[in-house]
Amino acid sequence: METTVLPLHKYPQYLQNCCDLINSEWKRSNTARLRSLESSCDTLPVSLVLLNDTKLIGHLKLSPIPSIKEGCFVESVVIDKQLRGQGFGSVLMRQAEEYCRNVLGLSVVYLSTRGQEGFYSKLGYVECQPISIYGGYKDNNFVVSESKNVAKCDTLILVNNAPKAPPMPGITNSNLTTLKTYMKKYI
Ligand code: ACO
Repeated sequence: METTVLPLHKYPQYLQNCCDLINSEWKRSNTARLRSLESSCDTLPVSLVLLNDTKLIGHLKLSPIPSIKEGCFVESVVIDKQLRGQGFGSVLMRQAEEYCRNVLGLSVVYLSTRGQEGFYSKLGYVECQPISIYGGYKDNNFVVSESKNVAKCDTLILVNNAPKAPPMPGITNSNLTTLKTYMKKYI
């Protein structure tokens, strides 16, 4: 059987299968999931699907990072439960990196994970500082906007258009932590 990686928006016949696959891992309403998948486009964000012959067996989404134009953020990587541990996840990630490099002209890929660090490190990803896909930072002079309970935040929210706040007692940029491991790879 042959595997292929395709941008979902060019193959809308796979939208519902893709929705079902992602929802089998992370339950969400069908409507909300479809709406999110329908945002896939020629630039970013884009959802890539892995086909085994003609069956959809994998998905990942590449999202923009406002502060890092040469990079993107990989999310919602999932392989059909019945087919895990057979190399399909690696195929999907490698093809996605090629897509980032050759189609999107990017040079670095970021992600965050809780529990799949081993999978990504086998693919060459290394741990890095948390990055935000919402705001941004400029010249490393960033401002933490939601720092009340940083240890419980899933994603660190950094903004560059807010006035610089005074340092919070006991919290410095070097000791901020989140529950997720952030990783990156130059491609
Ligand atoms: N820890 C350590 N090693 C791992 C792990 C892990 N959690 N998962 C896979 N590996 C290893 C495999 O043993 C294999 O090693 P080998 O090359 O020495 O044989 C290698 O990584 C490649 O494994 P694949 O078979 O290519 O991975 P698979 O097809 O199972 O896909 C995936 C991995 C996508 C994580 C799959 O298990 C899955 O869908 N999991 C559930 C959803 C999930 O957690 N997704 C990741 C969310 S994080 C994000 O989206 C950025």
